[in-house]
Amino acid sequence: MTIKEYIKARKEEIKSEVLKMERKPSLVIVQINEDEASKAYVKGKLKDAAELGINARLVKLPLETTEKELMKVISKLNKDKKVDGFIVQMPLPKQINEENVKLAVAPEKDVDGFHPLSALNPCTPQGIMNYLHHEGVEFLGKNAVVIGRSNIVGKPMAKLLLKESCNVTVLHSKTSKEDMKRYLKNADIVVVAVGRKHLITKEFEFKPSAILVDVGINRDEEGLHGDIEPGMKVALQTPVPGGVGLLTRLALMENLLKINSTK
Ligand code: GUN
Repeated sequence: MTIKEYIKARKEEIKSEVLKMERKPSLVIVQINEDEASKAYVKGKLKDAAELGINARLVKLPLETTEKELMKVISKLNKDKKVDGFIVQMPLPKQINEENVKLAVAPEKDVDGFHPLSALNPCTPQGIMNYLHHEGVEFLGKNAVVIGRSNIVGKPMAKLLLKESCNVTVLHSKTSKEDMKRYLKNADIVVVAVGRKHLITKEFEFKPSAILVDVGINRDEEGLHGDIEPGMKVALQTPVPGGVGLLTRLALMENLLKINSTK
């Protein structure tokens, strides 16, 4: 099933789950940036919520908001019984420490899965795993290569693949092209999250059975591009746009429902 078909089917399931609920789940998104990618994400998340019957609201704070002021907003949301879950959209302006913010969100409301005590996983890796499971991908003993080591994607992705008993290698933007080629040649599952247009080109060799997951969203005058050149000769390659971004948004709604089901 393509990602678009999968999303459509899962949304129908979620919609009917929400319809059965006495009280609609509620989500708050706090945004303190003018980042283009964030704007697109937030717009998409609000659209998904509306479509699924979830109450979602955006709290936009000025760019000069201090960490103390944000902490006050977070503390209020933590206590607000009408709010089931909330996220603070990243990136944050430089006067605010992201790690402090992640720790301030109450773990039971942390739909992003960023808090170390959160029972949930970050949305991008979780969304990717859900889709790969749905597609019947086998993990046990497979060679998985994650390129990228961010706290939001690379590191949690490696952890989830390890949990599925993959042999996990984490590479990054400082890995030499020669080494990258050497690892990728033997890879069964590849997740690329560096943020560099077409970092992986047709010049790289892959197994025909390989699965390539492209987390990159790189915008230039020609439009949106992934970290992987399109049209690789492999078993599965996720598209950009219309790929991992949709899986991430879906995972956020699924995380919100998980919070509600454990109440
Ligand atoms: N910025 C990019 N992706 C994400 C995400 O999944 N959650 C939050 N809060 N910010 C992001």
